[in-house]
Amino acid sequence: MTANSEKDIKYLKAIGRVVALALKKMMKDAKPGMTTAELDHIGKEFLEKEGAKPAPQAMYKFPGATCISISPVIAHGIPGGHILREGELINIDVSAEMDGYFADTGGSMVVSKRVPELEKLLEATRSALAKAVHIAKAGQPLNIIGKAIQQEAKQNGFNVIYDLTGHGIGHKLHEEPSEVFNYYKSKDRRILAEGLVLAIEPFLTAGKGHVVEKKDGWSLQTVDKTIAAQFEHTIIVTKNEPIILTL
Ligand code: CO
Ligand code: CO
Repeated sequence: MTANSEKDIKYLKAIGRVVALALKKMMKDAKPGMTTAELDHIGKEFLEKEGAKPAPQAMYKFPGATCISISPVIAHGIPGGHILREGELINIDVSAEMDGYFADTGGSMVVSKRVPELEKLLEATRSALAKAVHIAKAGQPLNIIGKAIQQEAKQNGFNVIYDLTGHGIGHKLHEEPSEVFNYYKSKDRRILAEGLVLAIEPFLTAGKGHVVEKKDGWSLQTVDKTIAAQFEHTIIVTKNEPIILTL
C-alpha cells in the first residue's frame, strides 16, 4: 500500500511496534530446553494481548502464530516439538494485523551462545538490511535495494538467497510490489514511490543461495544445507530516510 494519510502512518506505526516487541521478547526468551511450540506461544500471547492477530495463520492458515526456523531451514519453519539447543542457529519471523494494517519483522540468532562463525553471518545480514533500508528513497529505482544487499553479502564472503524476497505490505501481509529481490536485477524498472510500505528482508547464506521446500509443505531449507540468516524491517519510503516501523 501507499501510506498517504496521518491515519495510515499512525496505524502502521502501531502494528509495527507490536510485532517488533513480540520479536524482541521471543528472541530474549528463546532458551535451550524450550520447544519451538512454547516459544511460538509466547509470541502469540503477546500479540493477542496487544490486540493484534498473527498474520501467517489469518492469511495462509499457517500452522503457527509465528514462523520459527531451525537451520538449515531459513523460512516458514513450523513451531512444534523441536527442543532448542545451545548454539543452534534459528530464525524467528513475526507478522501480524491490527485494525486492518499489517507489519512484518524477523531476525536470526544463536541460542544462548556466541559462535564466531555464525556471528559473522548475523552481522553481515544485519548490515545488509541497514544498507538496504538507508538506500530506499522515493524516486529511486526499487532494484537498488537488491543491489545494496548483494554487495554487502559479497563483501562479507556470503551469498544472498535468490529465491526469497521482500515484498509490499500494508492492508495485506503480501501485496504489490510482490518481489523485492535480494540481488541486483538490472531489468527491473520499478521506481520507489513516496509512502510505499515495504518489507525488506535480506537472506544471506554461506552456500549457493537456493532453497527447497520440505515435505511438511512449508519449511524452506537451503538446498546445500548451509547456514543462512535473515533480518527484516517494515518501512515507509519517503524522500529522505524511511520511517522504520519495526525498530
Ligand atoms: Co516478509
Ligand atoms: Co517476515
